[in-house]
Amino acid sequence: MNDKVKIEVRNLHKSFDGTQILKGVDLEIRDGEAWVLLGSSGSGKSVLLKCILGLLDVDAGNVLVDGAVANSHETNKSSYFLNKIGMLFQRSALFDSMTVWENIVFRLMQTKVCTPAEGRQLALQKLSLVNMGSGVADLMPADLSGGMQKRVALARAIAGNPQILLLDEPTAGLDPILSKGISHLIADITEELNTTVISITNDIDSALVISDYAAMVHNGLISWSGPTQEIETSGDPQVEKYIHGWVAERAKRGEQPNSKKERPLA
Ligand SMILES: Nc1ncnc2c1ncn2[C@@H]1O[C@H](COP(=O)(O)OP(=O)(O)OP(=O)(O)O)[C@@H](O)[C@H]1O
Ligand SMILES: [Mg+2]
Repeated sequence: MNDKVKIEVRNLHKSFDGTQILKGVDLEIRDGEAWVLLGSSGSGKSVLLKCILGLLDVDAGNVLVDGAVANSHETNKSSYFLNKIGMLFQRSALFDSMTVWENIVFRLMQTKVCTPAEGRQLALQKLSLVNMGSGVADLMPADLSGGMQKRVALARAIAGNPQILLLDEPTAGLDPILSKGISHLIADITEELNTTVISITNDIDSALVISDYAAMVHNGLISWSGPTQEIETSGDPQVEKYIHGWVAERAKRGEQPNSKKERPLA
């Protein structure tokens, strides 16, 4: 981690059909930091991530990546920019007509970063990282369970070792053991490669493992941001409401919160 600002969101506004979703979001993320966006359903977390990726046009404000404005059509269409960022979409968004391995390395093959033979090898490596054997490489996405599709989508997001990873609900739909394993995997990969990460999750245990900082999206703004380890003492009423169920559940189980330092036993 260093002091260089990697992603800067300035006064971002976005509306759909006259309904304002984002009303002036500011966020500054330094190189190598891992952030998580919290917020109730429909608060605009996915919209914010898609604006950062350049998939959605913004109404006002800017997104800067490495100091350059990213939300212009010229920038976000360049393969240089796209290769910097890996994204896992909330609904996995795999291409139905391509096999698993083709999905994983699709962009790398399209931009001629690798040949099909190299791509298949790379896809197999990434599959093993997400605990999937080579047997699934030639299957079609429709042949996989939701949790398996999620892991393939994660393998695709990390395929090009991107500098920036945007992960929309990376553990949703996974069972608790797999979810814990994938969270630690994300933390390990991103730490090793010094990746800058923005994730969205409503799994607080996962948030504590995969992020250093958290930001609460509420009413179109960031109502609180700070170290993820401090979400229990944030003093922000929205954060308190959001984590209430998790705090109660954990107390019932008599457990301590997860942390990046802990590793699953299995
Ligand atoms: N392309 C779109 N066109 C119109 N409205 C949209 C579009 N994308 C998102 N919205 C609206 O913007 C709002 C925020 O959506 P968003 O998907 O960002 O929510 P979210 O915080 O990610 O919620 P969840 O936790 O359920 O995924 C919702 O009201 C949604 O209907
Ligand atoms: Mg969403």
